[in-house]
Amino acid sequence: MELTRKDLLKMSVLGAAAVTLPLERSVNASSALASRIAESALPRPFTTAFTKPPVIRPVRSDATTDYYRVSMEPTTVEVIPGLRTEMWGYNGLVPGPTFQIAQGRRTVVRQINNLPAVHPVLQYTPWTSVHLHGSASLPEYDGYASDITNPGQYKDYHYPNWQPARTLWYHDHGVHHTAENVFMGLAGQYQLTDPLERSLPIPHGEYDVPLIVSDKMFNSDGSLLFSTNDNAGFYGDVILVNGRPWPVMKVKRRKYRFRILNASPSRSYNWSLDSGDTMAVIATDAGLMPTPQYVRSFRHGVAERYEVVIDFAKYRPGQRIVLRNASPKNNINFTNTNKVMAFDVVADAFSTVDNAVPASLNPGQATMLLKESDAVKTRTLNFIREHGQWTINGTTWEDIVRSGFTKVIAGPKIDDVEIWELRNPSGGWHHPAHIHFIDFRVLSRNGRPALPHELGAKDVVFLGENESVRLLIKFDQGRGKYMVHCHNLVHEDHDMMTQFEIRDDTTPADDPFSDPARWLPEGPL
Ligand code: C2O
Ligand code: CU
Ligand code: CU
Repeated sequence: MELTRKDLLKMSVLGAAAVTLPLERSVNASSALASRIAESALPRPFTTAFTKPPVIRPVRSDATTDYYRVSMEPTTVEVIPGLRTEMWGYNGLVPGPTFQIAQGRRTVVRQINNLPAVHPVLQYTPWTSVHLHGSASLPEYDGYASDITNPGQYKDYHYPNWQPARTLWYHDHGVHHTAENVFMGLAGQYQLTDPLERSLPIPHGEYDVPLIVSDKMFNSDGSLLFSTNDNAGFYGDVILVNGRPWPVMKVKRRKYRFRILNASPSRSYNWSLDSGDTMAVIATDAGLMPTPQYVRSFRHGVAERYEVVIDFAKYRPGQRIVLRNASPKNNINFTNTNKVMAFDVVADAFSTVDNAVPASLNPGQATMLLKESDAVKTRTLNFIREHGQWTINGTTWEDIVRSGFTKVIAGPKIDDVEIWELRNPSGGWHHPAHIHFIDFRVLSRNGRPALPHELGAKDVVFLGENESVRLLIKFDQGRGKYMVHCHNLVHEDHDMMTQFEIRDDTTPADDPFSDPARWLPEGPL
């Protein structure tokens, strides 16, 4: 087979797509990095002003539903001083506009793919599939990876918004190009509120702030640099918060609530304040925790959302507090990836309303009230590397495609409660594991209680090196097939993704994955 110039270009940039190569994490090993911009040309931390993405308004509304229109399109931004970078954004914004939705209102979002016919560097066709992560959407509106919209096409996505208040996010999920598309900028927040959330005296409005964190790497001409690091992941040397590198936010002497979303393709973080003070974690992926958890640091994997209250009342005006990142193992780090943003305390007047963290937030959280004894089945999902591919129980998305989308890893019955045990039997990498549609409770981690910041309902769980977690899940209110995958987007694209089906019939189909003996790989992992 003769390779075209296009193929060669793609191969050199992606390290020969690397699917069959052994995993290496040496950052200098890849020739793709030869064009990486010098560190001296990067912006210096804490020299740009913090901004928030704008809130999107509906184009029209009726009695039950708000209708939105979003165009996915290229935009040019200046992250590297003096250089222009092409990115892709929802409505041309990186990150995309924030949706603020009240529980009970339905939404329809028309997503128009106005991206170029081919990616400017990688030359692939940027088909898209928009996933609202955290929403119990019908399968046809869930951003199923293979349900693609090509450039020039659009799709209307319908969202139910009946779930408890939470921080969701929308991002691209197009099969095999999710990592590149999200790295290009296709991600934004979607905030769902409800009467309980509104009634609590926690920070609202001006003091309720999205922090969308991602990392990028650049070529010397300012363009984004794509290196999968032999399929370990995309890792950048520049940390963006809401699209700005290491920004500085002015804060008044009161409590702020930060909705932290890790929208990085692969990087996990471990947050702390350089003051050493505690932060109150008040919400996890699926909304308010039963009670706040006070921590000095916590681990945050890709796609997880944590709402954190930081109290700046005890600092004097003029003081600077830095949000730091003590990186979890097996990330690729650079000079300034150990810091994220800074808060400069100012003496300005402020409202004292909604300036509290009640000791009880959401004691009735339904997922957190599920009991282990309600479970009718236990399943095991191994997140493993096999024959040079990322797999779940040896299955890849390619297997799902080849089955005509009939193959499933589990077929729980509607309303059943199950325990899913997720395992990462490797010391060499971690996986942020995500299950679509449902919320879960973390029952245990490595046979011990869940970590304090995980004591709320979630949809992504961090599977650290040689870790296993037991999750309690109720498959209610749904029918059909949904994805489960690693949210390290490079792992997901190559090809650590499968699906399960919520069934409402009484005759379960053959489910080979319920029997570990039938799929456990032979030999060392
Ligand atoms: Cu955040 Cu399957 O996605
Ligand atoms: Cu999701
Ligand atoms: Cu992974």
